[in-house]
Amino acid sequence: MSALGFGCWAIGGEHRAADGQPLGWGRVDDEESVRAVHRALDLGVTFFDTADCYGTGHGERILGRALGTRRDDVVVATKWGNVFDPDTRTLTGTDDTPEYARRALTASLRRLGTDHVDLYQFHLSDADPVRAAELRDVCEEFVREGLVRAYGWSTDDPARAAVFAAGPHATAVQHRLNVLQDAPELVELCERLELASVNRSPLAMGLLTGTRRGPLEPGDIRSRPPAWLPGFEDDGSGADPRWLERVEALREILTSDGRTPAQGALAWLWARSPRTVPIPGFRTVAQAEQNAGAIAKGPLTAAQSAEIDRLLGR
Ligand SMILES: NC(=O)c1ccc[n+]([C@@H]2O[C@H](COP(=O)([O-])OP(=O)(O)OC[C@H]3O[C@@H](n4cnc5c(N)ncnc54)[C@H](OP(=O)(O)O)[C@@H]3O)[C@@H](O)[C@H]2O)c1
Repeated sequence: MSALGFGCWAIGGEHRAADGQPLGWGRVDDEESVRAVHRALDLGVTFFDTADCYGTGHGERILGRALGTRRDDVVVATKWGNVFDPDTRTLTGTDDTPEYARRALTASLRRLGTDHVDLYQFHLSDADPVRAAELRDVCEEFVREGLVRAYGWSTDDPARAAVFAAGPHATAVQHRLNVLQDAPELVELCERLELASVNRSPLAMGLLTGTRRGPLEPGDIRSRPPAWLPGFEDDGSGADPRWLERVEALREILTSDGRTPAQGALAWLWARSPRTVPIPGFRTVAQAEQNAGAIAKGPLTAAQSAEIDRLLGR
């Protein structure tokens, strides 16, 4: 598996919560998404992260279509736990029952056009840990049946991550990690238990790319950020200037050795721990090329990481 995965949330396209809250990244061009996945494959990216609810199923379909005959060359990760209505592109609730896990997996396999998922992730980050232990055992059944190779929990809570990690085929925790939002306990847990630390929002949802300004289109989750999404203004005008100031303070280090800011943000993650696997989102071939290009430039140095901690007052 490549040291870098590609996050397929944005390419799922628009979808929303029952109250109208946008949950996608606005409009996307499916043909460009497919071209971007192809370019990533050509550049050596072998890990793709999606979820059944991204675009209420559309994201998995697009990824399956883009991978085509190259499916077996890559690690495909998806997630379950949210319930959705594809006709209205709306998330309608959640379901943490074992019966639903099996139904969701069957549907994901069909949309992805594959007979197995390489990494199956529980998407409900704050779910009941007792319930989750049952689901972990269900994942073991999926492994025995050959439907799933490995599994993990997408959660920012180390205690919950540890519940899933107790399973023999648990290999990863997906959690938020980027240069502005460190997660020391989760990184420590992944190092101790020898799990992959799969890093969502590695570019702080675009804040770290040096290009994200505003205003944002109404279908973009960042135009009406939920409580768990800091760094963007509530009125759709774009990035919070205080966050951009912090990004600006890091620019010189992140752009060292000819890196773009996005490449620098990924380089910080690789320096953070040998277990990290960032999964930056993308919508275009140009973003795919730039993000895949980070691999060759490698991690920041320990001195650069220390300087970043100093600049951010950590
Ligand atoms: N488990 C979960 O609950 C969960 C939650 C969040 C994310 N994730 C996963 O993590 C992945 C990545 O996280 P994320 O989507 O939150 O955000 P991210 O990777 O931090 O930021 C992605 C965004 O940054 C911009 N971008 C990417 N590459 C760029 C480049 N080279 N130059 C300029 N801009 C660039 C694009 O936004 P523009 O639209 O501005 O072009 C892109 O959509 C997701 O796709 C998903 O697979 C999982």
